[in-house]
Amino acid sequence: METIAEFKEKLNSAVTFIRSRTEFKPTIGIILGTGLGSLVDGIELVDTVPYDQIPHFPVSTVESHAGRLLFGNLRGKPVVCMQGRFHYYEGYSFKQIAFPVRVMKALGMETLIVSNAAGGMNPNFRPGDIMLIKDHINFFPGNPLIGPNDNAWGDRFPDMYETYTFALQDIARQVALEQKLPMQTGVYLGLTGPCLETAAEYRFFRTIGADAVGMSTVPEVLVAHHQRNRVLGFSIVTDMGLADNMHPCSLEDVIGTASRTEPKLRDLIAGCVERM
Ligand code: HPA
Repeated sequence: METIAEFKEKLNSAVTFIRSRTEFKPTIGIILGTGLGSLVDGIELVDTVPYDQIPHFPVSTVESHAGRLLFGNLRGKPVVCMQGRFHYYEGYSFKQIAFPVRVMKALGMETLIVSNAAGGMNPNFRPGDIMLIKDHINFFPGNPLIGPNDNAWGDRFPDMYETYTFALQDIARQVALEQKLPMQTGVYLGLTGPCLETAAEYRFFRTIGADAVGMSTVPEVLVAHHQRNRVLGFSIVTDMGLADNMHPCSLEDVIGTASRTEPKLRDLIAGCVERM
């Protein structure tokens, strides 16, 4: 098992390398999900660091993810943006998936904004809806916080009362209202993939209280919460998973809907960042 000292060594070399490439101090971290790469359009770029140059950084294997850290200002706020994230189905460990979240914190991040593409299970949802994540269900077979704990970073047994920061949810609702953007709210269930869900699984996940399902976000949010970041999360509902009304679902559909919905989410996130 990796010791805390070994993990800190890795973290340190990643942070030291990034610091050799940019002095930019971000306070907000943004993780862009599938089909959401161009959310960065509104960012006044200052520096870019490709993942494959950063020591110990995982390298993204999914084609729809670009794989670089972007540093810049969004509505006047210093942000670091992960263009491309890591998924458990790619073969990474939970610690690897969440490693960039530790790195962003070390660079100055106080608030993490996560986005993803998800399958909708709430029958009131439609493809193209944006869902504010109010809570999650960790359906992954693990947790990045398993292993030795550094109490200086966070609690051994983190309380999950306010995983998705209430004040940030309030801001999101206000901004959506001002932008006349209909916004759903719900519970995100994260699981391994890469298979989409069977009808029986959709029925089960709906029954246990999930509104949307996807293959990401939960590991990163667990680490962000552990290290006492504020967290704001959004899903784009790219397709519907209704047990009694199943249709074939292609990756093209998922990416197409995510891309079409992206401008709305971009404006919503920018509006939230402006008020942080
Ligand atoms: N499951 C079903 N539909 C989806 C998913 C998923 O994990 N992600 C995006 N659409």
